[in-house]
Amino acid sequence: MSNGADPFDLASIITAHDEGNFADAVVPPIFQTSLFTFSDYDEMIAAYRGEKVRPTYTRGLNPTVRAFEEMLAKLEGAEDALGFASGMAAISSAVLSFVEPGDRIVAVRHVYPDAFRLFGTILKRMKIEVTYVDGRDEEAVARALPGAKLLYLESPTSWVMEAHDVGALAALAKRHGVVSMIDNSWASPFFQRPLTLGVDLVIHSASKYLGGHSDVVAGIVAGSKATIARVKAEAYPYLGGKLSPFDAWLLIRGLRTLPLRMRAHQASALEIARRLQKLDVVETVCHPGLANRLPAGLNGTSGLFSFIFREGVDIRTFADHLKLFKLGVSWGGHESLIVPGEVVLQQKAQPNSAHAFGIHARSVRLHVGLEGTEALWRDIEEALAAASLS
Ligand SMILES: Cc1ncc(COP(=O)(O)O)c(C=O)c1O
Repeated sequence: MSNGADPFDLASIITAHDEGNFADAVVPPIFQTSLFTFSDYDEMIAAYRGEKVRPTYTRGLNPTVRAFEEMLAKLEGAEDALGFASGMAAISSAVLSFVEPGDRIVAVRHVYPDAFRLFGTILKRMKIEVTYVDGRDEEAVARALPGAKLLYLESPTSWVMEAHDVGALAALAKRHGVVSMIDNSWASPFFQRPLTLGVDLVIHSASKYLGGHSDVVAGIVAGSKATIARVKAEAYPYLGGKLSPFDAWLLIRGLRTLPLRMRAHQASALEIARRLQKLDVVETVCHPGLANRLPAGLNGTSGLFSFIFREGVDIRTFADHLKLFKLGVSWGGHESLIVPGEVVLQQKAQPNSAHAFGIHARSVRLHVGLEGTEALWRDIEEALAAASLS
């Protein structure tokens, strides 16, 4: 397994992006302002006519947000990127930029539940249909694509972590004239760069590894100039889910340690997954790194995976006895987290079904943070000792 360092452009995130600007500050300033004034009438009319690109109003353009967008575009190998107020704002704005009533989307099964709910509520009311396929079954994807407008990917998928050959799926989409889009939050650009594999648009919940400190909710969409121009023309300004300058600044800080954090998440999570796999009380561990090889284009694995307990473990007692793994949603930060599947299955949000997300009642999802492998494993062993019924 490669460590993902090549062709990742480490220097572009370590080096200040703004050399020569802002007194050569190592860290860019936060432009915490809603608007930018004009020196005279001519300057204002030039901006309105689009003759000069300059910040006017932060919902359109803000230098701190732009700095983050440019850094992320570089990391993903994109020509351009747009920052959003959440991962869901990025997903909804990107999807709505490429479909209209009567269109059909092909999506891999087990996508992030709120993306599934976006498809099953707002898009359904707009008469946009979604066909779900097993992304590992390329023939099934090929059969579903004719006549579709958009291929929506997430690899590995949420919870059950089905990992796909993203390049092969992108090639299928191209062959059928279908735009392809992927949620790359799990791998981050450090381990997977989908645009280099032929995908048209990359989306992130930047709330996860890009931020990395659990202090930001944000999203990003990256792609070619032409695809980003399409999102920028309508959904970005009119749906208005714009990234804030302060959150962009926090994300810039997060990006600088992305490679270090991703290596640490990978090492601890993989080791814990391997140890769990050997336990009698564990039925299955869903972690892409346990397969003989990763799919082409996925150069490493992150900290999020799930596993299924056999009968005989009291999951409530297990969760309550963990000290380092906290009960909590989200993931991608410095801290370790646990979500029991039986709790998620109680959620009232609609549409909802265990089948849609692949969540087993005896499964738990772990996010392995940066506390250290041995301390985390001790935490699991102690909680297991309290929770084993036999
Ligand atoms: C895989 C994945 N995609 C997208 C999102 C949505 O991102 P956000 O919470 O930033 O809106 C999440 C959030 O948990 C996620 O896990």
